[in-house]
Amino acid sequence: MNQKSSRILLVHGHEPPRRDVRGFLEQRYRFRECSLEELPGWDWQEPLEVLVDAPLSTSADVNLVRQALERVPRDGPGVAFIIEELSRAQIVRAHSLGGEGIVSRPITAYALYATIDTLLNRSRIRQWSTDLGPAAAGLAAGNEALEQLFQFAAKGTRLTQRELYDHGDNVIDTLAETGLGKWIEAVKAHHSATFRHSLLVTGVAVGFGQHLRMRHEDLRRLAIGGLIHDIGKAAIPVEILEKPAALTPEEELIVREHTTLGRGILNKQGGFSPELVDVVAHHHEMLDGSGYPDGLAGDAIKDLVRIVTIADIFAALIENRAYKLPLPNDEAYAYLLSREGKLDMQLVKAFEPIAYGTKLAA
Ligand SMILES: [Fe+2]
Ligand SMILES: [Fe+2]
Repeated sequence: MNQKSSRILLVHGHEPPRRDVRGFLEQRYRFRECSLEELPGWDWQEPLEVLVDAPLSTSADVNLVRQALERVPRDGPGVAFIIEELSRAQIVRAHSLGGEGIVSRPITAYALYATIDTLLNRSRIRQWSTDLGPAAAGLAAGNEALEQLFQFAAKGTRLTQRELYDHGDNVIDTLAETGLGKWIEAVKAHHSATFRHSLLVTGVAVGFGQHLRMRHEDLRRLAIGGLIHDIGKAAIPVEILEKPAALTPEEELIVREHTTLGRGILNKQGGFSPELVDVVAHHHEMLDGSGYPDGLAGDAIKDLVRIVTIADIFAALIENRAYKLPLPNDEAYAYLLSREGKLDMQLVKAFEPIAYGTKLAA
């Protein structure tokens, strides 16, 4: 599981950590444990986000936690708290101790993962700003757009196309400034496989569009299209989506549904342009009619979709997954060339400098 490269430090009070927390963490992250007493002496060589599971019932408890947290590097990890009950007093205490996230008992996997993923995303964005300076704005924007998109898909919160335009413009500016290589290097370290893939497809699609000297309006469609192309995956169980092994044929069929699920999500929300709905629904169609979900062929597959399809396949091939090594760029490109009849060969030929210029594979 790809999140397992993300590290969490679970800090417990006098009692050893409860099984609920351990069980949930084990399924999704790599984590280490220490007690409040051990925390001040912790060696912060490796980056860890901190999850505190210690009582905050009395002011003595709070002081104990405060003292333990004092030696945690200030610009280092994010801190989240598990509290016993959703009471105002405990929330205030957790915030006063610098808690950026709070989960209350009884714990659900969804609440715990959402809180920890937010910490991980923040630290990723901090890392991007250190590595790339102001040019990290586009990555942060892409990441934020994905967070909003997945929340919107999972919980039905509203999302306006206007917000996505702003995020898309930030992505375009960043790519123009830093180039595709840096974008991809930065994205590769993202903790979520789905976000990493979406940001990678976005970078490759926009980079390709810039190389083709497409109009700003079309680049914007590619940026947003790349971000949202797999939005339907928000409705696929995460155990299948981030399974650390190849999928069974039955699981493969479930994953294929992300195209129609994505179309449904956008149509329900409303306000998305037909071009974008087209990208989401049809980025797995093939020119010879062998793709899915609608078996479209030839001219029925529009240029914008064709570009996203090429970026999508290329990104998937060069990606590192728990169960497969990334293909070197030349082999990934050779695969695209071998798909004559299915992919637009004129576009594949034009893609060559993008495929070779990115220095992606280790
Ligand atoms: Fe897809
Ligand atoms: Fe994809």
